[in-house]
Amino acid sequence: MSKFIASPAKKLSGNLKVPGDKSISHRSIMLGSLSQGVTKVTGFLEGEDALSTLKAFQAMGVEIEREGDCVTIHGVGINGLKKPENPLDLGNSGTSIRLMSGILAAQEFDCELIGDVSLSKRPMGRVINPLTEMGAVIDSNDGKPPLKITGGQNLTGINYDLPVASAQVKSCVLLAGLYAQGETCVTEPAPTRDHTERMLKGLGYKVRVTDNQMCLTGGGELTATEIQVPSDISSAAFFMVAASIAPQADITLLGVNINPTRTGVINILQLMGADLTLSNEREIGGELLADIRIKSSKLTGIHIPEEFVPLAIDEFPAVFIAASCAEGETVLTGAKELRVKESDRIQVMADGLTTLGIKNTVLEDGIKIQGGEFQQPTGIIESHHDHRISMSFTVASLRCDYPIEINGVDNVMTSFPNFVELANAAGMSVAEV
Ligand code: S3P
Repeated sequence: MSKFIASPAKKLSGNLKVPGDKSISHRSIMLGSLSQGVTKVTGFLEGEDALSTLKAFQAMGVEIEREGDCVTIHGVGINGLKKPENPLDLGNSGTSIRLMSGILAAQEFDCELIGDVSLSKRPMGRVINPLTEMGAVIDSNDGKPPLKITGGQNLTGINYDLPVASAQVKSCVLLAGLYAQGETCVTEPAPTRDHTERMLKGLGYKVRVTDNQMCLTGGGELTATEIQVPSDISSAAFFMVAASIAPQADITLLGVNINPTRTGVINILQLMGADLTLSNEREIGGELLADIRIKSSKLTGIHIPEEFVPLAIDEFPAVFIAASCAEGETVLTGAKELRVKESDRIQVMADGLTTLGIKNTVLEDGIKIQGGEFQQPTGIIESHHDHRISMSFTVASLRCDYPIEINGVDNVMTSFPNFVELANAAGMSVAEV
């Protein structure tokens, strides 16, 4: 088990390009595999999560070549997957297991989806329930992985009201809908990331989107195309916070995905007073990109508007570090989902902040953080093997006069394999030991 030692640093500078978007990388493999023809992907995230999806589709007979971040997928068509010989191991990846269960529930063959210790604790009832309503047969360990899917079922389209604002559940149901008899509609309680809908459309599949409802009709085909994966705003967020809190910073993050269903972190940091400007906005392959310049700023605590929660769901560990450096109190509510991510991100962040002397109060669905000065750590920060916890506390080193030790950082590889390299290039002082 590796750990980070993040030593004090004050300055951050340079033009940085963070790796490809994780959500889009997963979907490029899944939908490229189900397309007719060859899909070429560039900017693919070479992180363990996206690679778990890639290996799973290879195990189902799809020929996929990878050279660095360029991936070539020889699509097998919507009905061309083959029964894998072994259970599909999806490692740490919630996106892989939830989206793939939608596809696999509709196949002729049986299969089993497994994952690591963290994934094996995560709730799957949220996908099992709608899929069962569509006619799927899925056995689980009391609503948790492993998932045993019995093939050969005929699925029927449903009208599904998402009980939680979850892009994974929405995508799972829509992907099952590709195979279902009739129309499948999903209604979401709040906007969630829409990469599945965008990519389906890019591959020639008709998806009807009206307000908060997405519908498609089963039985169509997908046609291969080129996919350029933009930089992941969730990875960029660590550097947005880093530059905002650093005593001296001026950085530019290049080619970041600014899909409006993902930009909650920008809105939140701007509300806190961050000096953050977007330029060079452009559209590539149905996704919006921009360069984002961030300079040091004096942040102020805020009550985070609940409508930003699904739009920044993965960025809260980093936002909590910003809140710790802000003047006054920051309050987050309506974010219960954080408790069922790769770790319980409310409790695990609260514990780490306490270790750094930051006063906080844990709420059932959020947290209150009193901005202050990071103190000499009273111990080692435990990441609970959660990549985003590890990276968030690394960023805190820009405002701490003592080294911060973070345990269990191996899973940084799931989403941001060159994090340490990039952090050091920008001016941080991080060692992995
Ligand atoms: C994701 C959706 C989000 C997010 C996850 C990736 C996706 O999960 O937290 O990292 O790619 O669809 P939920 O849908 O559970 O909110």
